[in-house]
Amino acid sequence: MQKGTYIRNGPGMWNIGDYNFRHLFDGYATLVGLHFENGRLTAGHRQIESQAYQAARKNQKICYREFSEVPKAENFLAYVGELASLFSGASLTDNANTGVVKLGDGRVVCLTETQKGSIVIDPDTLETIGKFEYSDSLGGLIHSAHPIVTDNEFLTLIPDLLKPGYLVVKMEPGSNERNVIGRVDCRGGSSPGWVHSFPVTQHYVIVPEMPLRYSAQNLLRAEPTPLYKFQWHPESKAFMHVMCKTSGKIVASVEVPLFVTFHFINAYEEEDEDGRVTAVIADCCEHNSNPDILDKLKLQNLRSFNGKDVLPDARVGRFRIPLDGSPYGTLEAALDPNEHGRGIDMAKNWHEEGVVPSEPFFVPRPGATEEDDG
Ligand SMILES: [Fe+2]
Repeated sequence: MQKGTYIRNGPGMWNIGDYNFRHLFDGYATLVGLHFENGRLTAGHRQIESQAYQAARKNQKICYREFSEVPKAENFLAYVGELASLFSGASLTDNANTGVVKLGDGRVVCLTETQKGSIVIDPDTLETIGKFEYSDSLGGLIHSAHPIVTDNEFLTLIPDLLKPGYLVVKMEPGSNERNVIGRVDCRGGSSPGWVHSFPVTQHYVIVPEMPLRYSAQNLLRAEPTPLYKFQWHPESKAFMHVMCKTSGKIVASVEVPLFVTFHFINAYEEEDEDGRVTAVIADCCEHNSNPDILDKLKLQNLRSFNGKDVLPDARVGRFRIPLDGSPYGTLEAALDPNEHGRGIDMAKNWHEEGVVPSEPFFVPRPGATEEDDG
């Protein structure tokens, strides 16, 4: 008998009382669980009981710094109680609305860009069990929203905002302790590029250094800026770094054309006739190196659809990172946009009370052996 459960989260609630949020990414996390068994489907949904959500509901006000929303100092101070906290990670949200992962040990964790927003849930009832506490002392406030998780490894990136760079870390199943594989120092800019996601191959972790960089200043600013927690620094250039998963050694660090991406799609190693790896290929949804996409995901814009696409074009961007020591990598469209579309085209306006659309997600067919069998 084949059975299984599919769980997703995402922003699902965009108001607190009469106050309406402005950006898609601010929504308080809603979990959706689909349980397939015996040819039948049982479905349910539930809010994730993050501190931020609980405090907002209790006080009918935003109490933590969300993606674009910031609490009035009095709300936050009333809730947490010290001025210093306003300028530390304590005021950041734990609204775990960007992903759900099942660790190798079976625990199910919801995630967001802040480390404190790692929340363990019960996959059967969708109940919030509690915060996932990292037991190491690696620190940092943020991490990649999309770690790479398999049955035997959990890999993620921790940006270092003080000494611009990234820690590449690994966590074993059954453990809450992240161990450092290695460190990448940024080659441009005064802060690391945003790493919402990153690609890995069989032997390598690829660390993208995007010119859309974190801004510690904007992270703590009282009013949203056009690029929210980020700043666009084309002059700081763009780079891709390739780190060996086992040794932590950087085997390539190349300059690439400017790019903007949230999501990497796939990555693999290119080999020569003798089986030696000559390059790493990584595909992503690339927004034509235009950071405007962030602001275009405002709810007002998304809800303004009148038959015309309100989102800027995107493409499947393919990086080729040579491992032969050359200083440059390439970035090209992997698919013809005229034939395969421009990423997130809006062709339809669909609306149903109480219902939120989400992106498609690949689920392998039970027993599948081919990578695209699903
Ligand atoms: Fe994402």
